Amino acid sequence: MAQKQTNKAKKEAPKPVKKVAVQKAAPKKVSVDVPAVSEKELLLQSLRGMRDILPDEQPYWERVRRSLSNAAQEYGFQRIDVPTVEYLHLFVRSIKEGTDIIDKEIYSFETRGGDRVALRPEFSAGVARAYIQHGMSVLPKPIRLFSMGPVFRYDRPQEGRYRELWQGNFEIFGEDDPILDAQVLQLAYRVVQELGLKNIEFQVNSIGSTESRKRYEKALVRFLESQKQKLCQNCRERLSTNPMRTLDCKEDKCAQLTATAPQAIDFLDDESRAHFKSLLEYLDELEIPYSINTRLVRGLDYYTRTVFEIWSSDREGKKYALGGGGRYDGLIRELGGESTPAIGFGLGLDRIVLEMKRNQVRPYEAAKPRVFIAQLGDLAKKKSLRLFSDLEKHGILAAESFGRGSLKAQLRVANRLGSEVTVILGQKEALDGTAIVKDMVSGTQETVTREKLVDAVKKILKSNVALAHPKKS
Ligand code: HAM
Repeated sequence: MAQKQTNKAKKEAPKPVKKVAVQKAAPKKVSVDVPAVSEKELLLQSLRGMRDILPDEQPYWERVRRSLSNAAQEYGFQRIDVPTVEYLHLFVRSIKEGTDIIDKEIYSFETRGGDRVALRPEFSAGVARAYIQHGMSVLPKPIRLFSMGPVFRYDRPQEGRYRELWQGNFEIFGEDDPILDAQVLQLAYRVVQELGLKNIEFQVNSIGSTESRKRYEKALVRFLESQKQKLCQNCRERLSTNPMRTLDCKEDKCAQLTATAPQAIDFLDDESRAHFKSLLEYLDELEIPYSINTRLVRGLDYYTRTVFEIWSSDREGKKYALGGGGRYDGLIRELGGESTPAIGFGLGLDRIVLEMKRNQVRPYEAAKPRVFIAQLGDLAKKKSLRLFSDLEKHGILAAESFGRGSLKAQLRVANRLGSEVTVILGQKEALDGTAIVKDMVSGTQETVTREKLVDAVKKILKSNVALAHPKKS
C-alpha cells in the first residue's frame, strides 16, 4: 500500500520546469478522473510529505506563532500576507535556475487560463514583488515586513523535511548598514532563545557584491575544472549552472575537494570586507554564538554579502538548519524595482517545533475557563446560550457541557475542569429569569437575577484571586 502510494505520488508530481515559457493557451476543459475502487483509500491519505497538524500538536505551534508575532512587533515589523501561488517566472527570476529549489523542488503547473504558476517555495520573492507592486519604496525606510505560512518544496520527505513546510519570514528593505544585518541576527537569536532551544549555533559568511561574487565563481570553477573527475555527477553539472553550490554538496569526495578550494571571503571587494568586519564586531558586542563558515553559500541565488544559517544539534550530533537568510541587495532591481538594499531570514517552523519537543520545552497553555454553566430542561438549555454570551462579553471564559442531559453528569465535568464557579440554570430559574451561582471553593450558593449574574460571578472570582495571592500587610 505504502509503495503504491509512493508511486502514485511520484506519478502526480509536476515535472520541474526548466525553460519558462509563459504562454497563453485557450481555456481547457479539465476532466477529473474518478479513482478506481481499489484506489479509494488513497483519498483518505494526505499527500506524501504533507501532513495534518492535529489539535494535540497545536499548543507547540501556538507558542511558536505567538513568539514570532511578538518578536516581529517588538522589532517594528508589519505583517504582510502574500499569495500562496505566484507566476512561476517570479521565482525563477529570483531564486534562479541551477538551484535545487527551481530545478527539482518547485511545484509548478499551468492554470486553466494557460498561466504558468507555482506554489511559493519561500517568501522573499513574493514579498519583494509586493514591495514593488505597491510602491512601498516611497515609504519611510527601512521597511520591515513579517510573514508566516506554508511554503512548498518537492523535497525528499523525512523527519524535519516536508513538502509543505511552514516558515516565519522577516524582511527589511531600504538599508545597507551592517547594523541591520546584526539586528536581524539578534532577532533570530531572540526567537530561538525565547523558545527555549539549546545548542544553537549561528554560521555567518560573506559572499560579497554581485561583482566580487562573479570573480570568486570564476576562480572556483578554474580550481574545480582542473579536478573535475573527482566531483560527483551533480557537481560536475553545477560547474556550469551554479558552481557555488558545489561547496555544500553532501558527497564526501566533493567535500574533500572543495575543502581546499578558494574561499569567497578572499575575493571580497573593499566595501564588502568592511561591511562584514562591522557585522562581526556587532555580533561580538551582542554576544551571539556564531562561527564563520567560509563554505556557507545558501541554496537560493539572490544573496549578496552577508549570508547566515541557524543550526541546532541533537545529542547524537545530528545537525538541523532551523533557519537561514542574508542580504539580497540586487533582487528588487532584478525584479524591475528601483535599486533597494534588503536583508531578511526565514525560520523553519516544523523544525523549530521538533526542536522544542527534543528540548522538552513547555507548549503554550491557553487560559482555562474558571466558570461552568450547567442547565436542566429544554427552556434552561435555550437560555444557557444567552448566559454563555453574557459572561463571554464581560471577558469571563465559561465551559459547558450542553450536550449532556443530567445535572449530575454536568457537575462532574465542572469538577473535572476545576471550575471555581458553577452557574446552574434549572426549569424554575429559566422561568424566573434567575440563575444559581455556586462557589465551588466554599460550597455556598445564591440565586441571582440575570442582570446581577455577571457581578455575582466576578465577585467570587475576585475573592478567589485574593485568597490565592493574599496581600502582604
Ligand atoms: P531557506 O534556508 O531555504 O531560506 O529556508 C529557511 C528554513 O526553512 C530552513 O532553514 C529550514 O529550517 C526550513 N526548511 C527548508 N526546507 C524545508 C523542508 N523541506 N522541510 C522542513 N523545513 C524546511 C529561505 O527560504 C529564504 N527565503 C530565507 C530568507 C528570507 N532569506 C532572506 N529572507
